[in-house]
Amino acid sequence: MIDMHCHILPGVDDGSPDMQESLAMAKKAVEAGITHLFATPHHLNERYVNVKNDIIDLLVEFNECLQQENIPLTVHPGQELRIHRELFVSLERGEVLTLDNNGKYLLLELPSGHVPTYTQELIYELLLKGITPIIVHPERNKELIKNHNLLFNLVQEGALTQLTSGSIIGLFGKNVKSFSKKILEHNLAHFIATDAHNVGSRGFSLQEAYETITKIYGIERTFYFKENVEQLIRGQSPAIVKPVQFKKKILGIF
Ligand SMILES: [Fe+2]
Repeated sequence: MIDMHCHILPGVDDGSPDMQESLAMAKKAVEAGITHLFATPHHLNERYVNVKNDIIDLLVEFNECLQQENIPLTVHPGQELRIHRELFVSLERGEVLTLDNNGKYLLLELPSGHVPTYTQELIYELLLKGITPIIVHPERNKELIKNHNLLFNLVQEGALTQLTSGSIIGLFGKNVKSFSKKILEHNLAHFIATDAHNVGSRGFSLQEAYETITKIYGIERTFYFKENVEQLIRGQSPAIVKPVQFKKKILGIF
């Protein structure tokens, strides 16, 4: 399996603190059936700064360590970029790292409490530049939990989304699990990833999430998600199913 979002690089964010833990995470990933993953350190989320070249340098070093340790895992470059008004300045400065550094897909993180007013405009501008933003863990955003159609609007506009495996299996609580289910039912998810941070509670629960999806929606749905992330590794476009709008209930409350 392929995991497109995790914090495995050592000492750069709230994921792995050092190389020893990174290698332990890599072993756990392999045990969990993962062969390839994208290392996606936080960038500009109020605490961490990880620009493109720094990530790539560290990634080369990490892949060498994996080879020395005979751990059969291939790590690709990526970045989890917090949305900010000056995103295009960061792009011009060469600080932004798209998945596999191919200029096509970008992991975009919203603040956990709200969706900034300029989000739609920024997505539009990114798409114009040929970069498709993949909104990570929308199921954990408090404003989207209240206003589901805001997510529909972003997907309708052309953004893609990635659900976190732990959300699907209930590790983030009932509300997040329930919203994840609604996102799946309304065709508003395109990828599943672990967003792993450690070898403990935030680990590699990808297989468990796929099993849950298979049980509820059938094996074809799991194939859909697996195929989409494989397309990313190939540098090709994932399949996009038509998003379904949420019906408004009385008084506009979902
Ligand atoms: Fe993350």
